[in-house]
Amino acid sequence: MQNNFRIEASGLHKVYEEGPVKVHAVRGVDVKVPAGAFVLLMGPSGSGKTTLLSMLGCILKPTQGKVWIMGEPVPWEEHSLPFIRRRHIGFIFQHFNLFSALTSAENVEVALKLRGVHGRVAKQEARALLDAVGLAERWNFMPRDLSGGEKQRVAIARAFAGNPPILLADEPTGNLDSHSGRVVIELLKRAADQGNRSVVVVSHDMRIMEFADEVFFMEDGRLAPYQEAIHGQGTGRLRER
Ligand SMILES: Nc1ncnc2c1ncn2[C@@H]1O[C@H](COP(=O)(O)OP(=O)(O)OP(=O)(O)O)[C@@H](O)[C@H]1O
Ligand SMILES: [Mg+2]
Repeated sequence: MQNNFRIEASGLHKVYEEGPVKVHAVRGVDVKVPAGAFVLLMGPSGSGKTTLLSMLGCILKPTQGKVWIMGEPVPWEEHSLPFIRRRHIGFIFQHFNLFSALTSAENVEVALKLRGVHGRVAKQEARALLDAVGLAERWNFMPRDLSGGEKQRVAIARAFAGNPPILLADEPTGNLDSHSGRVVIELLKRAADQGNRSVVVVSHDMRIMEFADEVFFMEDGRLAPYQEAIHGQGTGRLRER
């Protein structure tokens, strides 16, 4: 074990070179997320938030730098990344990314099956996960028959499948009205506080700040604690590190 952090990144850079121009999207980011922490990542559009979250989530290979998940270095070999993601990381996206032809319960079951839970056990577990996000009575609904907030709660139930210690959410309230957004954030906050999960949320929503143990501000590919970047004041228990 390198450390006690659930997620650690050191000297992370990402340069996109697909197009005719190189884009240096992330420029030397260091970050540490302990167990039970609810971390908010803010910053203007194009500042590199999704790029950073994707590298922390082992979806996108850094151009330079290192990531440790659960204290283990990420090897960035194609065959090992799905295993790390399935075992340790649940993802929640702005656009929910539910299978439109599957019911709420089936959407959650798919994630359970990927983690080796099948048959009747998967069905029971899916229902329990939907119950935990307040959707016990919607298990048989198709995504088109759910509200935006309900769809996002199905996505959270799906991210909880297999009980991953890390949850990463990219603008999870971006498509929601303020009440539904609050319900979603409270679920994520509870996952950190009571479930001892490490939760990293990318959001433009200032209202999430009150829930966060630590707020980072990203600008032009670089990360600064929000208080330093904006106010110069320190809050939150993680500041004591
Ligand atoms: N696949 C890609 N190929 C080339 N450039 C990319 C790619 N993905 C992102 N970029 C560029 O990298 C920069 C950072 O993008 P990123 O999506 O990480 O920003 P963001 O902070 O999440 O923005 P938003 O708030 O709008 O979602 C942008 O300039 C973007 O155009
Ligand atoms: Mg983004």
